[in-house]
This record gives sequence, structure tokens and C-alpha cells, in this order.
Amino acid sequence: MKFFIDTANLEQIKEAQALGILDGVTTNPSLMAKEGINGETNVKQHYVDICNIVDGDVSAEVIATDFEGMVKEGEALAALHEQIVVKIPMIKDGVKALKYFSDKGIKTNCTLVFSAGQALLAAKAGATYVSPFIGRLDDVSTDGLNLISEIRLIYDNYNFETEILAASVRHTMHVIDCAKIGADVMTGPLSSITGLLNHPLTDIGLAKFLEDHKKNA
Ligand code: G3P
Repeated sequence: MKFFIDTANLEQIKEAQALGILDGVTTNPSLMAKEGINGETNVKQHYVDICNIVDGDVSAEVIATDFEGMVKEGEALAALHEQIVVKIPMIKDGVKALKYFSDKGIKTNCTLVFSAGQALLAAKAGATYVSPFIGRLDDVSTDGLNLISEIRLIYDNYNFETEILAASVRHTMHVIDCAKIGADVMTGPLSSITGLLNHPLTDIGLAKFLEDHKKNA
């Protein structure tokens, strides 16, 4: 399972990269705004800065919602760095844009996916990644993990190569459950990754080992 971090915060990306287990980064316009990154030049530079920290795919989202606009923006984003993946919303023109970029060999991430039908369309259009938002489904009393299971079944039925990128991951149990189901990738906040480290028995056991070691010193 690949681990992506879902942030535009460079310090958090550096921290995850330093752990040695980071496979990529996902961003979105809200995450960029949270870091105060605005204006075309600054946004583009920020994507390059992220690419220079992480070894792996970096999703950069288009703002346009029409086919021509998405193609223009996506091509400009893809030209920034070889690690850029063009993130495209699951709307009608987005499906067309996914097919366009797929035919050109440019990697894509289909975002804002909330149903198995949408995920099927994304795979048919040749998306590199599909991003079902599990946390936001949970937020409206719908089982986000069940959607991951449905997509896994459909993709396996037809050997679709599109990778399931479990997005809107909020906590460690989301990560573990996605791994059990067989999501190819998860993207979440730094806490959902570092939280996997935690177990009180590890802390208690280590304290005891160090204490016993001192006795013999
Ligand atoms: O990758 C999608 C993600 O950014 C959405 O997460 O927590 O805003 O639902 P969240």
C-alpha cells in the first residue's frame, strides 16, 4: 500500500518524507488556501517545491470545470515537473479530460468520487488514480469503507489498472481498514500516518528494557 500525505504544508511533507515511508503527496485548492498560497505563480512554485521534497507522485488540481480549460491548466501543471499528477474532478467534462490525458500518457487523479459508478467511469476513462472520499461519506452517515470495497471488487472483476487512492482519510483506523480491503494508496493527514506508531505496550516495554539495561550498566 502506498502512503501519500494530504497536505500542502511543506514542513509536514518534510517530516513524512524523513520517515522514509512516503510515496507521494495530494493537494487540493482548500489545502493550498490553508497554507496561504495564492496567485498562479506562487501556486506553481509551491507544487515544484513539494516535488523537490518528495520522491513520488504529487497531485495538483485543476480549477477549470470545462474540458478546454482543464486541458490547458492540466498541461501547464504537468509541464511543471515529471512528478505532477493532474487532479481532475468527477464531472462530465472531467471524464473527457481524464481520457485526453490518459491518451497522452499524462498521469491523472480523479477526485471527488463518492460512488462506485463514478469510480467505474474514471477507470474507463483511463485515470491513473481514483480518489473516493471516505471521511466525507462517513460525515453524512454513509459507510466510506464500503465504497472502497465496492470499487476494489469492480476493478478486480475487469483488471482495471486505475489505482484506488483512498482519500479523505481522517485517522489510523481508516488506514488499517483500507489496507485490509486492498486500497492501492491512502492519503491522509500526517497524524493518520504517525498515529500508526502508537501503542502503549511499546512505550511500557521500551521503558522497562532501558530501566533493566541501566541496572547492568
Ligand atoms: O484528498 C481529499 C481530501 O483532501 C479531502 O479530505 O478531510 O477534507 O474530507 P477532507
